[in-house]
Amino acid sequence: MKQVSRDKWSSKVGFVLAAAGSAIGLGNIWKFPYSVGVNGGGAYVAVYLLFLVIIGVPLMLAAITLGRKTQLSVFGAYKSIDKRWSFVGALAVICGFVILAFYSSVGGWVLYYFKNSITGKLNTADPAALTGIFTDMMNSPKILISYQLIFMLLTMMIVVKGIKKGIENSSKIMLPALFILLIIIAIRSVTLKGSIEGIKFLLVPDFSKITMDVAKNAMGQMFFSLSIGMGVMITYGSYLDKKENLLSTAVSIPILDTLAALLSGFATIPAVFALGFEAGEGPGLMFITLPAVFASMPMGQVFCIAFFLLVLFASLTSSISMLEICVSYFVDERNKDRTKTTLIVGSLIFLLGIPASLSLIEGSSFRLGSLAFFDVYDKLS
Ligand code: ALA
Repeated sequence: MKQVSRDKWSSKVGFVLAAAGSAIGLGNIWKFPYSVGVNGGGAYVAVYLLFLVIIGVPLMLAAITLGRKTQLSVFGAYKSIDKRWSFVGALAVICGFVILAFYSSVGGWVLYYFKNSITGKLNTADPAALTGIFTDMMNSPKILISYQLIFMLLTMMIVVKGIKKGIENSSKIMLPALFILLIIIAIRSVTLKGSIEGIKFLLVPDFSKITMDVAKNAMGQMFFSLSIGMGVMITYGSYLDKKENLLSTAVSIPILDTLAALLSGFATIPAVFALGFEAGEGPGLMFITLPAVFASMPMGQVFCIAFFLLVLFASLTSSISMLEICVSYFVDERNKDRTKTTLIVGSLIFLLGIPASLSLIEGSSFRLGSLAFFDVYDKLS
């Protein structure tokens, strides 16, 4: 077993912020609201919360405990229990690899929207215009691939430098700012005329809507959102001091993560109903609805720029954690050079991500049966 002197998080708060930084990302702000929309509203939220309590929190505790006890990143941590468990560590590494391939695609969309927020292209509340901007992006291979590439390059640049100090420091500023902004947007959304139907849709469960598919989607979302099962929490836990209380730490991350998801739900869904959008719109929901909310606010463009910038930061603190899992496997277990490994692994993930991006273009042949590659990666991981 390889054991070198390892860095530590500067404090428990530093660890919680970094782990929450990995957990809170596109899964909360982009995926949760649209999943609520396509999976029947409050019933999906109720099933999600149930899985969170009975599976998510115990697994979070188990992952952090395993990391702290073994002081190793994910592959080594499983191997140190018993060699026969190594394959679970390998699965976690592969999982991070596949998730980042389609995650970087959406990261690219955020980057493109950040640019559009600055140029003022998003300053409209017209549903047709906003849907048009999203559809044009989704049908442009040039935009999709070039912004995905920039997103992956940013992720690789941070991982090359080593992530602990960077993550801890940026999360200290980014997370509180993100929460404040989400609260402001959520207040605006729930106070729009006609938002009450959206609030009911989000909060009042219609249990007849619960099907196996809804339950499966809610469970997948829970794993994705908490960053468990992909080795991140084991690896982050390995940098945690042995003195820290694990239970309160393991509980605070899911609480922050769920708060971010619910706030994003309140920021989006009531506005969907108030402003005449479709709750079942799917992956475009955040990109189409929120600019309309900003257009209805004083200083809307400033909020719009700040929002897409913070979502970009939130997605980067998640994407770097996934790349780090893959890179640390080669650095820790195979003694490879960090810079070279980051470049090679990051490029491979980008290449794997290209079909995911292109698969969403209308009429694309990047499909497996009825599923676009983007969804295949999502469901597989
Ligand atoms: N947990 C990360 C997110 O929710 C992957 O974005």
